This record gives sequence, structure tokens and C-alpha cells, in this order.
Amino acid sequence: MAGKALWSGRFDGGMDEGTLMFTTSLDVDSRMAFYDVMGSLAHVRMLKARGIIPAEDADLITDGLRKIAKTVEAGELELDYTLEDIHTNIETKLTNMIGPAGGKLHTGRSRNDQVATDFKMYIRDAALGAVEAIDRLIASLQDVAKANGETVLPGFTHLQHAQPVTLAQHMLAHAFRFGRDADRFMDALERMNKCPLGSAALAGTTYDIDRKMTSDLLGFKDPTENSMDTVGSRDFVTEFAFDASMAAISLSSLCEELVLWSSQVFGFVTMDDRYSTGSSIMPQKKNPDICELTRGKTGGIIGSLVTMLVTTKSLPLAYNRDLQEDKKPVMDSLQTLTDCANIMAKVVATMTVNKERMLASTNAGFINATDLADYLVTKNVPFREAHAIVGAAVKYCESNGLTLGDLPLEKYKEFSPLIEEDVYKTIEVMACVERRISYGGTSPASTDAQMLISLQDLFDRESAVRQKNMFFESCWKELLGE
Ligand code: ARG
Repeated sequence: MAGKALWSGRFDGGMDEGTLMFTTSLDVDSRMAFYDVMGSLAHVRMLKARGIIPAEDADLITDGLRKIAKTVEAGELELDYTLEDIHTNIETKLTNMIGPAGGKLHTGRSRNDQVATDFKMYIRDAALGAVEAIDRLIASLQDVAKANGETVLPGFTHLQHAQPVTLAQHMLAHAFRFGRDADRFMDALERMNKCPLGSAALAGTTYDIDRKMTSDLLGFKDPTENSMDTVGSRDFVTEFAFDASMAAISLSSLCEELVLWSSQVFGFVTMDDRYSTGSSIMPQKKNPDICELTRGKTGGIIGSLVTMLVTTKSLPLAYNRDLQEDKKPVMDSLQTLTDCANIMAKVVATMTVNKERMLASTNAGFINATDLADYLVTKNVPFREAHAIVGAAVKYCESNGLTLGDLPLEKYKEFSPLIEEDVYKTIEVMACVERRISYGGTSPASTDAQMLISLQDLFDRESAVRQKNMFFESCWKELLGE
């Protein structure tokens, strides 16, 4: 039998069992139990301060809610699956505990503003968790970069050998990309930093509530401006689904490379045993499954974004029950992203870099051809002409099984009489790397400068996250009377 519905006054009969099962959201929104209690604690404190409900009732409600908070924190909240959602569960539990005074909690609010408030608080913490995980990965990438400022490997375009780079440059490229992913979450947190509570069902309320007070108590910057917008919009959810998707795409790129790099064809890195798996049939196998799974999970994370976009498309104002479908996709995508970034931080930190294989690989693909052209430019040959000369030299080497470093000087002279003995030093890969001193380039001097920026960015963001976490923690303590 279904428990007593919140709206039973207007109905003659109870709900069909099937209707209850179809409409319930408890499986998913029970993850917001803690935030629901915090929202109610803030609300009741405001109702008391405004004299909207008697102080004795407010105190009873507060005591009851604080007890429920303890149960939630201990993971011992018992859920009644005949009550459709977490809001109903907690309110019913409260009333069972303290009697009719519990019925006064819902004065001047609706589940519509309640659910938006709870979900914002949930996402806020989940997003900060994702940022922390991404930052762990960035720190791992920085560590590999620090240890490999002079490790040379081929840089690729079109996955073809292009120009030599250092591993530091390559790792920092990923680090900066992940830095933007993390910053995107931080920016979105600012945009959603307004409290829905008090918007009520859609039109606000007749009670003289203090929305600034509840907003402050729950750690938001301000109350939302428009009640209809507040209960009818989920762009904040979609934005986080997008941010998670972008970060997942960055992860998938890193993973794709590590899958290639750990293959026998590349042999650039060896995965640590702790982060590899074997084969049930092929005894020799050591597979980069974590990278592959992370790459694969990108699909689900992007799927969540598409779910949000399509679910909210064409919804009229204000609240529609469709909006109940917003939680699972984004809760899951933020959790998956966090798990992926956390484990990839370990994969990167523990992999072995095979420097010799990287260096040996730069021998192929005429990776120093641009440097040979630049050499001719220093002899006053226009770059276009130099490009053609080197192109002809590469073609000759290719058909004769030579590298540019093997080509005898007398042969070079046939391509251009301006080429001298110093060409060989000039086109050595390390020399090629060291000359790329432009801002953002791959020379060790340049990557050292990048490293400082990357470290500072990480430090700043880590402090911002720590500050936010401490602030929310203090909000909860205040509400719990601790
Ligand atoms: N379970 C609902 C949700 O997640 C709560 C809001 C219900 N509001 C309503 N008008 N039925 O959206």
C-alpha cells in the first residue's frame, strides 16, 4: 500500500501501486537527503525569525531535523518506498517524530523550490569533487613534466611525425587543457550561486519570508531573482553536464595516447602492474584497460549532456514533472568523471617513461625537416624556397633509406651550395628542441616558464576549492548547531 500522499485531501482514493512505482524518484533523490535536511533547517530558522510559525514549533522542528541529519550522516536513514521522494520521506519522518508541528515546516515553500535548492547544493559539492580529482591528475602530469624537461619524443600532427618536442611540453599540454576543464566548473559554480528556496511552487508566496536569510544560511551568494525561472529552469544542470563532457573528452584524448604509447608499436610508456590487466587466454598480455575504460566512459558522460538538452527542450514554464529526470544523468556523469580523473592521476603517476624508445622514434619521419629549412632561412633563402629544397632532400633520403642526419655533405651541396658542415649539429633533435624558445614553445626554457604558470594555476584553484569546502562545512555546522 502506498503511504499517505501529501495531497490526499483533494483525492478520494489512493494512488495505484503502479503509478507510485512509475512516479517515484526516491532511488535517485535519496542521494540528496543531507542537503534536503539542511534546506529545511534554514527554512525553519527563517520561519521562526519572521514569526511565521510559533517559536516552540520551530524549535521542535529544528531538533527533529537535526536528529534526522545525524541519521543521514551515519548512512542510516530508512527510506519508505511508498513515499514518492526524499522530500516527502524526510517531512513524513519529521512529523512521525514530533507530531503535528512537523506539518508547519512546509509553510511558504514547495517541493519545486525545495528540489531545485537541494540539487544545486548536491551539484556544488559533486562539482568541487570533480575539480579536486582533475587537479590530482594535473599534479601527476606536472610531475612527469618536471622529470622529463629534456626527454625528446616525436610531436605529431595527423598522427604523423611532425617536429620533436619534450615530454614536458606534451604533458603540460594536457595539464593546461585539464586546467581549463576545472576552471569551467569553477565558473559554472559562480553562475549557479543563487538560492531557489522561497520561490515556492512558481509564483512566490504570500508569507513575509526572508529569502536572503535562507540563501546566506545555505552558502549561496543571493536568492534567485524570479520564481518562475527558478522552478522551471535547469540550465545549471545542463551546464555541469557540458563541463563534465568537456573534461571527459580531454580524458579520452589522454587515454587514447596512452593506449597507443603503451602498445608494442610505440613502446613509449609501460603501465604499472597495479593499473593494468591481463588476458584470460594470452599469457603475455598486459593491457591498458583503465585508459580504455576511461575513454569508453566518455560515451555515457556525453550521453548525460544530450539527455539534459533533450529533456528540457520545449518545456513551458514553470515546473514540469519532466524535470525530475534531471538528476540521475548528471549525478552519474559527475561521479564517473571524478572516478576517471582520480584513477588516471594514479595511472600517469606510476607509468614508466621509456626515454630511449621516445628518442629512437625521433629518428624516423624526417622530424627535423623544418629545422633544415629554418637553417637555410638563416642563410637568407626565402622560406618557401627552403621548403622546396628540403622537400627534395627528404624525397632523396626516403628512396635511399637515409635520414637527414645521414646525408653526406657533398650530397647536401647538390640540393643547396649554402649548406655547410654545421648543418649536422643544427638538425640534431635536441638542438631542434632547444631552439624553440618562443613563448609557449617546447624549449626547456620555455617549458620551465609554462611549469611556473601551471603550478600557480593549480595552487590558486586548490586554495579556492579548499575555501569553498570550508565555507560550506561552516554553514552546515551553524545549521546543525555544532
Ligand atoms: N520528485 C520531484 C522532482 O524531483 C519533486 C518535485 C515534485 N513537484 C511536483 N509538483 N510534483 O522533481
